[in-house]
Amino acid sequence: MAEIVIPRHVAIILDGNGRWAKKRFLPRNAGHVKGAGNVEPVCRAAKDMGIKYVTMYVFSTENWKRPKEEVDALMDLLYKYLSDSEGLCKRNNMRMSFIGDRSALTPELRELMRHTEEFSKDFTDFNLILAINYGSRDEITRGFKRIILDPSFENCNREELAEKVTEACIADHLDTAGIPDPDLCIRTSGEQRLSNYLLWQLAYAEFFFTPVLWPDFGKKELTEAVEYYSTRDRRFGGIKESK
Ligand code: IPE
Ligand code: IPE
Ligand code: MG
Repeated sequence: MAEIVIPRHVAIILDGNGRWAKKRFLPRNAGHVKGAGNVEPVCRAAKDMGIKYVTMYVFSTENWKRPKEEVDALMDLLYKYLSDSEGLCKRNNMRMSFIGDRSALTPELRELMRHTEEFSKDFTDFNLILAINYGSRDEITRGFKRIILDPSFENCNREELAEKVTEACIADHLDTAGIPDPDLCIRTSGEQRLSNYLLWQLAYAEFFFTPVLWPDFGKKELTEAVEYYSTRDRRFGGIKESK
């Protein structure tokens, strides 16, 4: 068997909560509750394998289109989940942070997110990043606005500013500034699309799609994804000398 290569950063599109519930004749929210319960076990499995970062897509900028009851239930669930974030981070020596536009979230949820980031900033075994009200196009748009308003560019004329806008500068003004790009992206539930997730950061990621629904995704499936990743020849546009 090929040697196992552990990705440093895995991005996950956790999809299929609704279908998981539907199959059991349960309300969609029951799928979301079950799915939320799966976050910590998957993080633990990832950490045990030596993965350092996991970014999970929890709520997209497009998810506001869902019925108000579902959006409210998701926001409530997030709030409840983060109410125990101290325990979650301590148990796993895990740093937790967030990407996405917080301005549309309630002040209570925002405060909890801020507190979680501050509380966990010195935990070093593992990094969990939750994408909440996240959309990649929105992130890039906000990133450009940040560049335009960046005080360190205040005295630049337009030509000087244009010189300064490099790939590194753009990356530094995204929500993911300081986080290495994902090596592997996993999507559950059989869909094979990005749904506006990390378009910039996934430029050279490998992709693993599984029909397994998110509430059923576990260590076995994560191991399968990493085994698949290990077989990939990442050329980054170059060529490899023949072995
Ligand atoms: C993913 O599950 C969770 C969120 C998008 C919040 P879905 O709710 O999209 O589940 P399906 O795709 O309807 O099965
Ligand atoms: C993507 O799942 C967003 C999250 C997992 C949070 P969706 O279920 O919302 O995506 P589409 O509608 O299938 O593209
Ligand atoms: Mg879905």
